[in-house]
Amino acid sequence: MTNDGARDLLSVLRRAAAPVSGAALARRFGISRAAVHKRIEKLRVQGHRVTGTQRLGYRLRAGGDRFGPGLDLHGFGGPLLHRRRLGSTQDEAKDRAARGAPEGLIVVADRQVAGRGRRGRVWSSPAGGLWFSILLRPVVPPERAPTLALVAALDWAETLIARGIPAVVKWPNDVWAEGKKIAGILTEMALEPDRVQWMVLGVGVNVNNRPPALPDTAAASVREWVGPVSRSELLSDWLGRFARSYARHARAGFAPFRHAYNARSVLNGRWVTGVGPDGAVRGRAMGVDVEGRLRLAVGRRSVAVMGGDVSLVRPAR
Ligand code: BTN
Repeated sequence: MTNDGARDLLSVLRRAAAPVSGAALARRFGISRAAVHKRIEKLRVQGHRVTGTQRLGYRLRAGGDRFGPGLDLHGFGGPLLHRRRLGSTQDEAKDRAARGAPEGLIVVADRQVAGRGRRGRVWSSPAGGLWFSILLRPVVPPERAPTLALVAALDWAETLIARGIPAVVKWPNDVWAEGKKIAGILTEMALEPDRVQWMVLGVGVNVNNRPPALPDTAAASVREWVGPVSRSELLSDWLGRFARSYARHARAGFAPFRHAYNARSVLNGRWVTGVGPDGAVRGRAMGVDVEGRLRLAVGRRSVAVMGGDVSLVRPAR
């Protein structure tokens, strides 16, 4: 961060034993109260938990971002590499995967300048969001590995629900709330005929940032529901869930997750369009099968949507 005043303001709040009023901060820095507010907003985007009331003033709460050695990675061995700015955490993790980095490596960037989404889309990654990639070396048959992305999305929905956000999964691996996309997952793999050499699972969560304008859906940020959140705590919460799921998936594949996934799916019973074995299909979503494929009722047939995205034909509730 360049020192645009937000950092000075942060150190005042750090030292303050009691809330500091906007007027006092404005006087101290010789700026307007609107400028104080702007700096406070900047700190929030950076993940600092600053609360404020008209009457009492601003206060810095514990639990800001700490992507340091103290962060609980829940059995994933790390290392956790935290960078202020990267092209894409995905590319960094893939590079390291190809050079033999261990399972559990996590790359986090405060901002990405070449963030990538699924199907070659650009992923807007300004400061305030949680952008990371984790390197996995799953000991599962290659055809089973892609369902890990669905499991990861389910765990993100559960992580957000635990914080009071009405999150759902949108097949295959998006997380939505109230009709808006909060998070997306991108997986890339190196396969041998009978084993997965590596998988890089990249996650983008709009947390404290302003959500981007997406071409095909509305987007939202975690803070819209619960205010500023520590990105590192959010990551650690998810890792806790995903560590258990990862072990379970290695033992039993997607089957034990299917019910929970379907229970959290925004698509249940909705009309969607997607791509089946014979091309484009339109039908009613009936849930995912044990292989993680979305089943559509098309007339009297049940058609499996293979990959790609599906679009809701009618707007989400
Ligand atoms: C999608 O919904 O299209 C998937 C988005 C995945 C974005 C994440 S952000 C961290 C990682 N690095 C990237 O370049 N992409 C993924």
